[in-house]
Amino acid sequence: KRIILVGPPGSGKGTQSPLIKDEYCLCHLATGDMLRAAVAAKTPLGIKAKEAMNKGELVSDDLVVGIIDEAMKKPSCQKGFILDGFPRTVVQAQKLDDMLAKQGAKVDKVLNFAIDDAILEERITGRWIHPSSGRSYHTKFAPPKTPGVDDVTGEPLIQRKDDTAVVLKSRLEAFHMQTEPVIDYYSKNGLVANLHAEKPPKEVTVEVQKALS
Ligand code: AP5
Ligand code: ZN
Repeated sequence: KRIILVGPPGSGKGTQSPLIKDEYCLCHLATGDMLRAAVAAKTPLGIKAKEAMNKGELVSDDLVVGIIDEAMKKPSCQKGFILDGFPRTVVQAQKLDDMLAKQGAKVDKVLNFAIDDAILEERITGRWIHPSSGRSYHTKFAPPKTPGVDDVTGEPLIQRKDDTAVVLKSRLEAFHMQTEPVIDYYSKNGLVANLHAEKPPKEVTVEVQKALS
């Protein structure tokens, strides 16, 4: 399957992704994770993306379309994939359709992580991540076994630079202005399943499974 996850910052896309991936054996392509890795490695891409990311603004369409085009060529992504955080503009959605059409493929499902903005600040400011795997925790909702330490590797957890109440405001504005139209774009084709993303993680997982079955 070719699945897209759309939702505002903190809506649970990254939390649900590994579960979907394990169940359907797909590759997980998260543009945010890929961009953060590029910023940390100070690659030319990372240098171009850093400023917009720290301000909570979107990186240019050309940069992210380039990353996805490259990543989708991986053999492990040929049978299907989960796109987490892409497409985030209507232009990106159109480019994705073009890329898939060249392979005779199309998007199968769009999972819309619908949630009220008011819940998101607590989720974002309490998040801790394990940078190399992308695993995320929450001080209140999903605490690691040992505070500040990844359960699997024992490595330290960090907070994302854009996970502040101030930057969240810009990220939400970008979501409403630029990404919500993507949901309308796919609704026209009847591909969108709306999830109750404010529910506890396990209940959201059940909704995801229903939407994909
Ligand atoms: P990106 O990394 O994609 O960030 P985002 O969209 O803001 O989403 P988040 O990762 O913050 O949220 P999430 O839904 O994954 O939440 P999570 O599951 O971790 O993008 C970052 C930046 O990169 C962008 O601002 C932009 O600059 C750039 N970028 C990326 N893609 C781009 C693109 N296509 N075009 C242009 N620019 C792009 O959950 C959050 C917390 O809540 C966690 O602590 C978790 O444990 C907890 N939690 C999760 N679910 C629940 C639940 N059900 N109940 C209680 N707690 C929960
Ligand atoms: Zn995420």
